[in-house]
Amino acid sequence: MARYELVKRSVALITLTNPPVNALSSAVRHAMAKSMEQALNDPKVTAVVICGENGRFCGGADIREFAGPLRGPPLVPLLDAIEAGEKPVVAAIEGVALGGGFELALVCHYCIAHFKARLGLPEVTLGILPAAGGTQRLPRLIGIPAALELITTGRHISAQEALKLGIVDQVTEQNACEVAVEFALRAVAKPLSSRRVSMLTTPCPPDLDALLEVVTMEVKKKARGVMAPLACIQAVRAAATMPYSKGIKRESELMATLFNSGQARALQYCFFAQRTAGKWTLPSGAQWNNSKPREIRSAAIIGLGTMGRGIVVSLARVGISVIAVESEKKLLETGKQMVIGMLERDAKRRGVSASLNLLKFTLSLQDLKDVDLVIEAVFEDMALKKRVFQELSKVCRPATLLCTNTSGLDVDALAGVTDRPHLVVGMHFFSPAHVMKLLEVVCGPRSSSETIATAMSLGKRMGKVSVAVGNCPGFVGNRMLKPYMDQATFLLEEGATPEQIDKALEDFGFAMGVFRMSDLAGLDVGWRIRKESGLTGPDVDPKNPPRRRHGRRYCPIPDMVCEQGRFGQKTGRGWYMYDKPGGTNAKPDPLIQNLLEMYRSRYAIQPRNISDQEIIERCLFALANEGFRILEDGIAARPEDIDVIYLFGYGFPRHRGGPMFYASMVGLERVLERLEHYHQAHPDVPHLEPSPLLKKLVACGSPSVQTWREHIKTMHSHL
Ligand code: CAA
Ligand code: NAI
Repeated sequence: MARYELVKRSVALITLTNPPVNALSSAVRHAMAKSMEQALNDPKVTAVVICGENGRFCGGADIREFAGPLRGPPLVPLLDAIEAGEKPVVAAIEGVALGGGFELALVCHYCIAHFKARLGLPEVTLGILPAAGGTQRLPRLIGIPAALELITTGRHISAQEALKLGIVDQVTEQNACEVAVEFALRAVAKPLSSRRVSMLTTPCPPDLDALLEVVTMEVKKKARGVMAPLACIQAVRAAATMPYSKGIKRESELMATLFNSGQARALQYCFFAQRTAGKWTLPSGAQWNNSKPREIRSAAIIGLGTMGRGIVVSLARVGISVIAVESEKKLLETGKQMVIGMLERDAKRRGVSASLNLLKFTLSLQDLKDVDLVIEAVFEDMALKKRVFQELSKVCRPATLLCTNTSGLDVDALAGVTDRPHLVVGMHFFSPAHVMKLLEVVCGPRSSSETIATAMSLGKRMGKVSVAVGNCPGFVGNRMLKPYMDQATFLLEEGATPEQIDKALEDFGFAMGVFRMSDLAGLDVGWRIRKESGLTGPDVDPKNPPRRRHGRRYCPIPDMVCEQGRFGQKTGRGWYMYDKPGGTNAKPDPLIQNLLEMYRSRYAIQPRNISDQEIIERCLFALANEGFRILEDGIAARPEDIDVIYLFGYGFPRHRGGPMFYASMVGLERVLERLEHYHQAHPDVPHLEPSPLLKKLVACGSPSVQTWREHIKTMHSHL
């Protein structure tokens, strides 16, 4: 847990040994306390170096321990003792110094960092604050504005930035530990008082209150309803206005308000869910750690529309050569210019040169003979996609993987028209594809484990959070979206307004409510799909009662909005009105209000007052209910996967943990009771009927979300 050695006859080298990230578990804290005591008491030892095994200094507290009672020595007295000791202590930072690991470095009298090291206080992202003196020492060392930024965002910084800020004393390209030992020997005779950060006076700007006010406003705007960054600001204020001994008490009080909060539990759940989601497994026993991905050096993208362009950028910026195909010369040229512009902007932002030499543009599928993998991103039209896949099957070498970016069509039907169904898989990106982190890897029944492993690993290489899902209409994310959006439009019929519904969802934490989001995405896309599936337009069976389709409730208001040419932001009108086409400033539109009033009077609907609670319950419980069905159907392997999809693909607020975690926090019994209530009130809405899995979990005593999988495993899996 911590190895103790004497090197160069007089330097105690303490190495943290807790793989994979040398987290400060109770055992590590215990071992460190013992090692420090030994070093300080041994007269042979004149200096101490602290480092971490396997090129990683320390990833901070062991987050897994947060769920239980504190065991082992607490960190604060241990860190205070290191700082107060009379022998110089040097931190040798390689890899990462995060959270408690960074706070450990702050109490060391000197810091040497490897040039590739990263430092940061990411506690805020876990719903807590740096409570081992971080909020008190960092402002004393680097000043209030810089400390506020790092502590309230949790941003990681490079060794070079840490040097500029005065956090580290030296950056080296050599072995940081060896450099630190030499440094420690030279530091032996030097006085330590100015190196004890807690003894420094915080450099305080004259306009402290104004500065804190501005940062508070920014934080409230960016992270609506999130508690931790606000507590961080209060802790930093204490560093500016109180002596260290009082500030550290304030830090600890603020930590106590956060530590057991629902937000902290949700954010810590998200941390582990994100890591669990990559660990896919198939009923055959093939899984993430026993299936080897293929190496992908070259790829092709078919269709340079909204999605294709972003996918090209995602591939090229990680060094994969890409052939982009369009159907017409003009479209190819437009797509090419867009991709080059995007890549150049992206490279400029990252301070690297754009990899334009990796790109090739063509009108001919014949050029794809030798690529390792193809991603099709043509229109959402099954007949067209089938033609493309048949053609690819003829042109590409037999080993080429064929992927589709369809947002909901049957991946297996596409596999069926090829000569290699085992090499076909869905790679469902989200718009804009070079920005959004989510990738749904859609596993057809015939996709081989090697194919899935390759798509998952390619996603990771592109910096995506990849989640393996089964093949059904809409897969996971878009399948769940339907009941959620349906509830929003039913609520409009019943008396709510778009702005009321959006406000309730935004107050819950979504960056945008459902109607503002739809205006951004474009209303015509869904309208086209509804027309194609006979839900609206000339193909509707006239025998259908007006607000019913396929025997269930149907709300035609979105169709009526589109019939007026209101397609959202791009036309300057949608559920809201905008200053101009392409405008983003949404204002309530009296014409929509009129439309709703006329609609209600035509169908003799008496509008009623709808509470925010009803909006949240109907939209979010319907969403989670579909999530339970998806688990039951074996389309997602575990609730964490669904939550990760909603966090990274649909803007679900992270401090709520995702729809499934949120349902567990509300209490499954309550969710069941409310769904039963709403289903009774709206029997023609099958999505409100509680799913059998939800009922089963309630009958089993509402187990924690991490154990739901045990209750699902006997059911059929599509993965
Ligand atoms: N505690 C417990 N487990 C941790 C951990 C931690 N601090 N950091 C990482 N892990 C685990 C991960 O869950 C993962 O476990 P599995 O292999 O079982 O999935 C494993 O270590 C490897 O992690 P990653 O897959 O994330 O590895 P990576 O190389 O991509 O990233 C990392 C490494 C940058 C350190 C990243 O893991 C990370 O950001 N960790 C969290 C750092 C953090 O937030 N620290 C602050 C903790 S709170 C604190 O320190 C409070 C305090 O004041 C004392
Ligand atoms: P788009 O309409 O912007 O682009 C499609 C492009 O494909 C057009 O440029 C078209 O000229 C080209 N194309 C059509 N037939 C072709 C052919 N035979 N050969 C070469 N190019 C051809 O569509 P968008 O939005 O990019 O969608 C593409 C696919 O991605 C669809 O399946 C869609 O469902 C899916 N998708 C879309 C998302 C979105 O938000 N737009 C999100 C996730 C998936």
